[in-house]
Amino acid sequence: MTPNTSRTRHLLSLRDLSRRELAALLKRARGLKAGSNRGREFPLAGKTLGMIFRKHSTRTRVSFEVGMFHLGGHAIVLPAAETHLGRGEHSESVADTARVLSRYVDGIMIRTFDHAEPEALARHGSVPVINGLTDLLHPCQLLADLLTVQEAFGAGFSGLRVAWVGDGNNVANSWIEAASILGFELSLAVPRGYAPDARILQEAEATAAAVQLLEDPVGAVEGAHVVCTDTWASMGEEEDLGARVRVFERFQVTEALMAQAEPEAIFLHCLPAHRGQEVADEVIDGPRSRVLDEAENRLHVQKALLIELLA
Ligand code: CP
Ligand code: NVA
Repeated sequence: MTPNTSRTRHLLSLRDLSRRELAALLKRARGLKAGSNRGREFPLAGKTLGMIFRKHSTRTRVSFEVGMFHLGGHAIVLPAAETHLGRGEHSESVADTARVLSRYVDGIMIRTFDHAEPEALARHGSVPVINGLTDLLHPCQLLADLLTVQEAFGAGFSGLRVAWVGDGNNVANSWIEAASILGFELSLAVPRGYAPDARILQEAEATAAAVQLLEDPVGAVEGAHVVCTDTWASMGEEEDLGARVRVFERFQVTEALMAQAEPEAIFLHCLPAHRGQEVADEVIDGPRSRVLDEAENRLHVQKALLIELLA
């Protein structure tokens, strides 16, 4: 994970993990889920995580808070609007916030819009910073998604084909980073004008990752073992939903689209979902859907991450 000058480790992006570190973290998460941490249940006793939220959350907030509790630590929820970060032009700087919080807490998780904010917290603070979603990336989601994929297809990822259908958003960007690190094939079907981040695509290309960008959902899903989608309008884009619904109409994950995937293919969605928009009810509520395991796995992977960063 990215070391800063004080060698503090962070998870701002999945790229902060080497392939080996990512494999070890997922292995630790599998152990935690199986309950094989008996005898060392409270590695974070006396430790505190501060959690800054500039956006809504159900899973991220609850899984981090429960995770800290399970590990013997404590979590403080900090809605930005109720701190001095949320006072408009009178706001305290992110740099000072980082310096001050570092005197109280052992780690900071932040969910925000601008990816520069967690980067600034990491630069100016002295404790580990975890990206709990920015407009650019959602690395904790990918840790859970990768664990869910391992549960279906084994730990190796070799020969695996993943399809992303819909918006080229923060979760899609993190899937591209995961494909670069782990070497599986990733095909993204995204409408023109909604492509993933250009720099992240270029970085994937530079690592010779098997990442393919298409505009045809059928082409992306053919032969896939994993089919993923997400909302057509991420947090902060809701006003644009009307226009997006028209653009994204043929990108809905339906039973007919799933029929193009491998017979054993699973369906993933980070949630919250919008049935009848990005996914049909029959798919998300059907036998191939792993969305609730995926949501549960947020807890297990984040506990593994918290032990890695804070213990
Ligand atoms: N998937 C996810 O991050 O969910 P929340 O927005 O509820 O945290
Ligand atoms: N892409 C979605 C993910 C929500 C967990 C968003 O950013 O709103």
